[in-house]
Amino acid sequence: MPVTVRVVDPVEWSTDSSRLTRYAFQPSPAELDAGRNLAQGKLYARFSRTHVLYEDDAPRATAMVWRMHQHVRGRLLPMGGIGGVATDPAARRGGRARQLLTAVLADMRAQGQVVSTLYPFRPSFYERFGYAGLAQERRVRIAPAALLPLLRLDLPGEVTLHRHVEVAGDIQRFETELAAQMPGMAVYDDPDGELLANQTPSWAAIARVDGRMTGYLRYSITEHGGDLDARRFLYRDPVTRSLLLGWVARHTDQVASAVLRLPPGETPETWTADADLMVEAKVAPMTDAAPMARILSVDGLAGIDAGPGEITVRVDDPLIGGVYSLSGGGTLSVTPGGTPSAELTGPGLAALVYGALDPAELPLRGFGTLDEPAAASLRSLFPPTTSHLVAHF
Ligand SMILES: CC(C)(COP(=O)(O)OP(=O)(O)OC[C@H]1O[C@@H](n2cnc3c(N)ncnc32)[C@H](O)[C@@H]1OP(=O)(O)O)[C@@H](O)C(=O)NCCC(=O)NCCS
Repeated sequence: MPVTVRVVDPVEWSTDSSRLTRYAFQPSPAELDAGRNLAQGKLYARFSRTHVLYEDDAPRATAMVWRMHQHVRGRLLPMGGIGGVATDPAARRGGRARQLLTAVLADMRAQGQVVSTLYPFRPSFYERFGYAGLAQERRVRIAPAALLPLLRLDLPGEVTLHRHVEVAGDIQRFETELAAQMPGMAVYDDPDGELLANQTPSWAAIARVDGRMTGYLRYSITEHGGDLDARRFLYRDPVTRSLLLGWVARHTDQVASAVLRLPPGETPETWTADADLMVEAKVAPMTDAAPMARILSVDGLAGIDAGPGEITVRVDDPLIGGVYSLSGGGTLSVTPGGTPSAELTGPGLAALVYGALDPAELPLRGFGTLDEPAAASLRSLFPPTTSHLVAHF
């Protein structure tokens, strides 16, 4: 049976790929609005590449790659965000997703993407494709009344309420600026926010200081007496954070709880005195996966922040395998060749670059072979950092 994997056009997206992903990810059976589906395919095609595996011209498996940039140790790197991986149920457990992903990885690399991230259905599956697990996003559940003291502060700036779709362009520009300073943050390569404008309806509370957007809260309200559910809570500085939390406080007699996804390192217990809240990070297959990341090009890492030191490593990986000499002391330099003193697998290198694991953990996890001096050099080159992915796709 002839098998091909190729990038599809919007018409094929709306028929072949979307048929597989709708079955996999949406409540079904459901009616399809073919015109709307094609319009979505045309929009997505401008910001992503969709791959389909065909057997005898029948679509069997699909995957989508969003063109994005991610902040990795001080630099915004071209990133392929994988989503919508689905196989026809009749064809599952036959190695189609594996074959498709092998082609997708090679294509991302050929497109110049340096790293890739995704939210896995099962991390062990993607580990075999060179991905390493990252930290899971924290969320806080807090009663808005606990935030009322913030309304008494004399804060500069203002918060205004909008439909998210109406301010998607402003939000995209704000996020792109913020990504330059926030480790792990990723944004679509979509300057005008057309993709954000196409997402599920929600509110956007925008904070401005001196007329300049400095943060926002994207949320929906489940019901009167229910939750204010914030999928995005991003800000430049603590003053803006307080402005936005003040906005949440205004919902004290409307909702029982606010649930806010937290930026990396945020500590809600310090926001006010007498805090009454719960911080959690849920990880569960399918519904609440922790993100993963992969390196697609070692040369492409040149220029990221790196501590002092140098080491030559052999990377054992089908896509980026080889010997590389790495040196730091400011930013990372990468030169091919040398005499290796450590061996790293694909997930091993990704875990170091993203700060997910200490070098001493790599041999324990089967992600590399190295002695203590090599671990010390790698620890110095890639000092501990938060390993989050700040993006949902
Ligand atoms: C997740 C999903 C895409 C996997 O697709 P698939 O084509 O079945 O994947 P593969 O066959 O390549 O691999 C799946 C498993 O089958 C095994 N497998 C591969 N070839 C096999 C074969 N010939 N016989 C039996 N099992 C096989 C693989 O080893 C793998 O199991 P393992 O990870 O424990 O080793 C598919 O189940 C699906 O569409 N699920 C619903 C949507 C979803 O969750 N998508 C993922 C979002 S990120």
